[in-house]
Amino acid sequence: MKKQLFFVLMVGCAASLWAAGTTEATLTVDAAHPSGTVSPLFYGLMTEEINHSYDGGLYAELVQNRAFLDSATAPVHWSVVEEEGSGATIALDPNRPLDRAIPTSLKLDVTKASADHPAGFANDGYWGIPVKPDTEYRASFYAKAAPGFDGSVTVSIQSDDGGTIYARGEVAGLSQGWKRYDVTLTTGELTETTKARYVLTTDRPGEVWFSIVSLFPPTFDNQPNGFRPDIMKMLIALHPKFLRFPGGNYLEGNTIADRFDWKKTIGPLKDRPGHEGPWGYRSSDGLGLLEFLLWCRDMHAEPVLAVYAGYSLDGKHVAPGKELEPFVRSALDEIEYVTGPVTSKWGAIRAQDGYPAPFPLHYVEIGNEDFFDQSGSYNARFTQFYDAIKAKYPNIQIISTIGTNEPSYQRVSSVMPDVLDEHYYEWYLWFIVHAQNHFKDYHRSGPKIMVGEWASYETTFPPWSAQSRQEPPTPDMAAALGDAAWTTAMERNSDLVIMNAYAPLLVNVNPGARQWRPDLIGFNGLHVFGSPSYYAIEMFSSNLGNEILPMAFRKSKIQGSATLDSRTGEIYLHLVNPEDSPSKIRIELAGLSSVRPTATAITLAAKPDATNSITERRNVVPVTTAVQGVGPSFTYDMPADAVVVLRIATR
Ligand code: AHR
Repeated sequence: MKKQLFFVLMVGCAASLWAAGTTEATLTVDAAHPSGTVSPLFYGLMTEEINHSYDGGLYAELVQNRAFLDSATAPVHWSVVEEEGSGATIALDPNRPLDRAIPTSLKLDVTKASADHPAGFANDGYWGIPVKPDTEYRASFYAKAAPGFDGSVTVSIQSDDGGTIYARGEVAGLSQGWKRYDVTLTTGELTETTKARYVLTTDRPGEVWFSIVSLFPPTFDNQPNGFRPDIMKMLIALHPKFLRFPGGNYLEGNTIADRFDWKKTIGPLKDRPGHEGPWGYRSSDGLGLLEFLLWCRDMHAEPVLAVYAGYSLDGKHVAPGKELEPFVRSALDEIEYVTGPVTSKWGAIRAQDGYPAPFPLHYVEIGNEDFFDQSGSYNARFTQFYDAIKAKYPNIQIISTIGTNEPSYQRVSSVMPDVLDEHYYEWYLWFIVHAQNHFKDYHRSGPKIMVGEWASYETTFPPWSAQSRQEPPTPDMAAALGDAAWTTAMERNSDLVIMNAYAPLLVNVNPGARQWRPDLIGFNGLHVFGSPSYYAIEMFSSNLGNEILPMAFRKSKIQGSATLDSRTGEIYLHLVNPEDSPSKIRIELAGLSSVRPTATAITLAAKPDATNSITERRNVVPVTTAVQGVGPSFTYDMPADAVVVLRIATR
């Protein structure tokens, strides 16, 4: 109370100065009396298979439709390779499946071929196969030859017209039973390109069946079945504290059958059939539950696991009670797979998958956006999951998908969720206006808030409209101003808003690859770039204290937050000027007698329509400069259309 009174007096003082005729814009920070603790889970990432985030994205596999399951009628993304003097056909063959999980294979029937005139089939990759110089690729495939076939299989990465071979390897002596073959392909000097294809040919006539035909470039930390290093680097630079997965709509699926059925996403790839995703394409599930956990480990982030809760996007739900029981059991098994000791059933399966040590898990979310469930069943479904999970894992915090921003009759009422997940996709000016007061009236004694998805859009079309796909995939500086303003609101209230994540995180920018804009990070087969919003978030997440400092602006359109690192005494001011003119602002650091005279400013400033793209990847990036003349009271020149971090040393 005393502290608050002090600050009210301080702000009152500044206000009366202003009333007495000063025209000066002022920011007063109570540097001596933190009002709360910054959530240790600031910031996080939200992820799902959308915009080819994984297949054709983070998951480094280069072959599209490697298991031949993307279409039931044709081997899409594959074509016959033949020339004058050779001939072949390819077809799906459900009569020669690899195993139960992969119920079809590709039959290559070579009618005519020789060493000089091979025949076979090619994959066009995800908008081409990206090829880089002096690089090792891991190729593998399962094959089974018809009796009498004694040819060899040549695997190669070629230019898409077949005129240039970038790398080649060979497998001889195919067996008549299914067997996996591995080859390393090494490129030499070349100009990087995505205009390439992956080709398998034979030098003899005969029949050969193939399954899981795979090609991996070098991966993050060289891990098998791993991630693209360049995308991982961008993600790690955000210092994420958590990863919310697997969705999003991707958790729910279009139908109950197409939900994220985690048990079908673990184990060897030959046991993963993949499934129809809700965003118009099939997922290979090469990035399955275990890979999500490894992804968290590699980023030093903790998992926020969303479990399927019996509601899918077609509006159907599983009735609470008996019908829902198997889904609740599946969620308990899933938690056991993540956290259980090797002596537990699912902990043992995780160990068999190569990871005996349990993963940390403190937050579990029940479903996704269940306010779309018009049946009103969420209260009972949530409670059934809540009771079962709490009974076995009392320390796990349970998240409801219906927040205070949804009508109260929809919210969970039978039990009190630990955390509510709120989603905000709004026009950037909405964020700039609402950032000022949005969380002010939330009850501090109720559930905590996770803003599990948010993003501002700056074009006429909301993210989910088909027209938005005509706009650039990533947002421009105007949206970054909205995002940054919103972020400062969450930081000021991070005693309540304990987690936040921009969504969607990733977009493959190739034509036809995306379903949603704006997205934080764009990429094609060769390059990756951050949007201005990415850099705003990266600046804030890399420069954040552990205590919230009360602050107040006077006569200024600037928005911001202030935090203190109590270990180092450093103060971090996050400032956003959404105006198109620069602004002089007097910064009063109340409660400090001395401050180091030089501060550091990290500035992201650009015209509102300035942006980054796959061809101009670093058009809008932060710049670091020194600020002189800093003291307990000093004037700072805030640039127009800018997001700034001021790092002020007090010791
Ligand atoms: O982020 C894109 C989608 O927006 C998510 O899948 C869903 O949760 C939300 O409606």
